[in-house]
Formats: sequence, C-alpha cells, structure tokens
Amino acid sequence: MSKNILILAGDGIGPEIVNEAVKVLARLRDGFGLDIAMDEALVGGEAIDATGVPLPEATLNLAREADAVLLGAVGGPKWEPLPIERRPEKGLLGLRSGLGLFANLRPALLYPQLADASTLRPEVVAGLDILIVRELTGGIYFGQPRGVHRREDGERVGVNTLIYSESEIRRICRVAFEVARQRGRRVCSVDKANVLECTELWRAVAIEVGSEFPDVELSHMYVDNAAMQLVRRPKQFDVIVTDNMFGDILSDAAAMLTGSIGMLPSASLDAHGKGMYEPIHGSAPDIAGKGVANPLATILSVAMMLRYSLGAPETAERVERAVSAVLDAGLRTADILSPGMRQVGTAEMGDAVVAALG
Ligand code: IPM
Ligand code: MG
Repeated sequence: MSKNILILAGDGIGPEIVNEAVKVLARLRDGFGLDIAMDEALVGGEAIDATGVPLPEATLNLAREADAVLLGAVGGPKWEPLPIERRPEKGLLGLRSGLGLFANLRPALLYPQLADASTLRPEVVAGLDILIVRELTGGIYFGQPRGVHRREDGERVGVNTLIYSESEIRRICRVAFEVARQRGRRVCSVDKANVLECTELWRAVAIEVGSEFPDVELSHMYVDNAAMQLVRRPKQFDVIVTDNMFGDILSDAAAMLTGSIGMLPSASLDAHGKGMYEPIHGSAPDIAGKGVANPLATILSVAMMLRYSLGAPETAERVERAVSAVLDAGLRTADILSPGMRQVGTAEMGDAVVAALG
C-alpha cells in the first residue's frame, strides 16, 4: 500500500536541503520500488508570509493524514520581531503537539570518516554512538500558566511552568528502554531531582519503568553533571532519556561532539509509529540560498523515516550506506571540510548520494 509523505521545506536552508532528500526519495521510488506519494505544504515563516500563521489548518490536516512528515527547518531573523505566539517556531511546536509526537530520538553518531571534524580530541569521540530520547510534547515548553504580565506593584514578571504527569514520563521512559534493548542496554535518566520536584517524580517513574526492563541497566544523572560528562567522557553513555528542555540543550551539545550538527537526523514519533523527521540543525539563515548547506542530516532523516514509519529497514540501510560511501569518496560540504577532501555544494552532495544508492 502506498505511503503518503508530507514534505515541509520551511525556511532558510530548509528548501535547499529538503530538495536533496526529495531526490533521494524519488530515486528510491523510481529505481527501488519504494511505494510512496509525496505532497507539500507550508510551515514556519513561509507560512506566515503566505497565510499570516506559522501552522495553517491545511498543513496540520495534511500532516495528520500523512504516514510520515519530512521537515527542513523553520525560523529566521525576518520573523524575530513577532510575538512568541506568532513566530515560525510555533509552527514546529504545533506540529509536535498536534500530531502527538512525544518521543524525539536524536542520535549522535560519529562517522569514522569525520573523526577529525570534532572539536574534541579524536580518542574522546572515536566510535561515539549516543541516542538522546527527548520528551517532546510536555514540560516547560507547554506548561500553563505562562507569559509576561505586570504585577500589582507595577513590576513585570515572566512565568513558565514545568509540569509532567506520571503517564507522560512513563511513556517516554518506555520508549527509551525499548530502544536501549536494540543497542547497548543502558539508559541514563537525566533530571534535576535535587532541586525540582517535577523531576523528582521523573526519577521515581523512571525507576518504576526500569523494573519492567531488568535486562537494561538504569542510571540517573543531574543535568548539570550530564552536560559536563558529555564533553568529558561522552562514550560512557548509550541511551539518555530526559525532559523537553534538558533534551533540547543536551542534544545540541551531543551533536557537536560529532563534529558537525549538519550530519545529525532526528525522529519525532507518536504512540503508533507515525513520525516527523528533521535534521536537528536549524534554518541557518546566514548561509541560506547559497547552495553550501550540508544536506546529509536531512537525507539521514529519510533513513530514519524508512526505518520507523515506512517499515523499510533495508532501504534505510541502503541510504546510510550511500552516505557513508560518499564520505569515503572524500566529498565534503563546507561544515565538515578537512584538508585533502573535496569541497562540494548542497546539490552536488545530494546527487552523489543518489548515485551511490546503487
Ligand atoms: C529543536 C529546536 C526547537 C526546540 C526550536 C526551534 C523550537 O531548538 O528542535 O531542538 O527548542 O525544540
Ligand atoms: Mg534545539
């Protein structure tokens, strides 16, 4: 049965990198029997310009009907003066919550070919393979009350609310334990249970869920220490499970261990395997339109889509092998360039991956 993929290119470098990922999908469809149909819609700043809102109803409806969504990036300086409620980022948050995509998988995998692209010493990062499982539809990003208001004494106060129900914690912890079973069987739950009651509950529920998975080792770490350990001895981690905001911060740090945020894909999943797939880097407005952005994170996001939402793990491996082959051949976009390698632009990199599919 044909699967529907909704393509949301978004802002900045979004259209350029998504274009390369679409080439890969089209080649898999035409040359390798992948039964898919692709549709496009507006999100983020481009949607604001065209319709006045970052997530038009039509886009959310198409996303609900799709089997999977591929997203480029949203946001840029043009829309920064807008109030938070109307910014491009709200389009992304609206998709996550509107589709119930509570589980965000962010792998930080170091390709051996790129070992010297990291700012850390090669022996610290060689062989790095971490998976951050970030809760994505709760916590301080969505908690009420929120806002900035004026108190009776005339002073302005800003408020956001960190809130989690035990069922929200339980379901994300279960995802982490289940994926740990496919990997190194170790889960580190990251919290701030020494200060925040909400994360004291997080830790208690993580322990309860851990008892359902006796074959997986569970440890706990405070988030400040986790940030330090990620740059000190990152290979101690297998799967990290954490809340929405801690996961946002730690996943950027973990990404940089691998040399370039331009290499890292992500999957945001609901309870039934439906997912939205996006590179973890942003819209990079400074290089937008120049044809130099690295499309590999988006192409690797297609691989995650094939694995998690389209039931095509072998095709996923084909895409990952093609990316590896292109790196072996010495092709590099500017962000991962090192001496002796050949610098290529966005489209040339995408074409090379398509050619390497077989
Ligand atoms: C991310 C981004 C988003 C987030 C922004 C763009 C809303 O930083 O996906 O990590 O904070 O979740
Ligand atoms: Mg982030």
